[in-house]
Amino acid sequence: MGITFTFVMVKPDGVRRSLVGEVISRLERKGLRIVGLKQLVISPELAERHYGEHKGKPFYSGLVKFITSGPVVAMVLEGPDAINQVRTLMGATDPAKAPPGSMRGDLATAIEENIVHGSDSEASAQREIGLFFRPEELLR
Ligand code: RTP
Ligand code: MG
Repeated sequence: MGITFTFVMVKPDGVRRSLVGEVISRLERKGLRIVGLKQLVISPELAERHYGEHKGKPFYSGLVKFITSGPVVAMVLEGPDAINQVRTLMGATDPAKAPPGSMRGDLATAIEENIVHGSDSEASAQREIGLFFRPEELLR
C-alpha cells in the first residue's frame, strides 16, 4: 500500500467531551500527517450526503440528528495505507466490541456515539474529502 489520504472526523460527542486533542494526538503519534483541518457544524444536507449509504436503515434518522447536533472537527490525513491504519486505530463501530487501545475501545460506550469517523475505502475517502474540503484548503 502506498501513501494515501483519508477523511477523519471527531464527532459531536467527541467535541462535547473535549476529546479533540486526544483523537488528533493519537493520529499524530501514529505518524499520520494532517493535510486539512477545520471545525464546523454539519448541515442536514451535508449529513445526508455524507451518510447517504445508510438511508432507509433503522438508525438513519438518529444518525443524522446526532451528527448535526454540534460542532465536529473534520480532517484529511496522509500516510502509508492511511485508510486502513485509521480504521484500526478507531476500532469496531460498536465500542463494546472495539479492543482496548483503540479510540472507540478506550473512549466510548455506545454505537450511536462512537467519537470518531474514518473513511472505509479509497472511494469513500475521495468522496468525503470532496464533501468537506476545497482543494485549496489542503496542503500538498
Ligand atoms: P462511521 O461511518 O461513522 O465512521 O462508522 P463505521 O464506518 O464504523 O460504521 P457505519 O456502518 O458506516 O455506520 C455509521 C454510523 O451509524 C451508526 N450505526 N448505528 N444502531 C446500529 O446498528 C448502528 N449501526 C451503525 C454508528 O454510529 C456508526 O458510526
Ligand atoms: Mg462508515
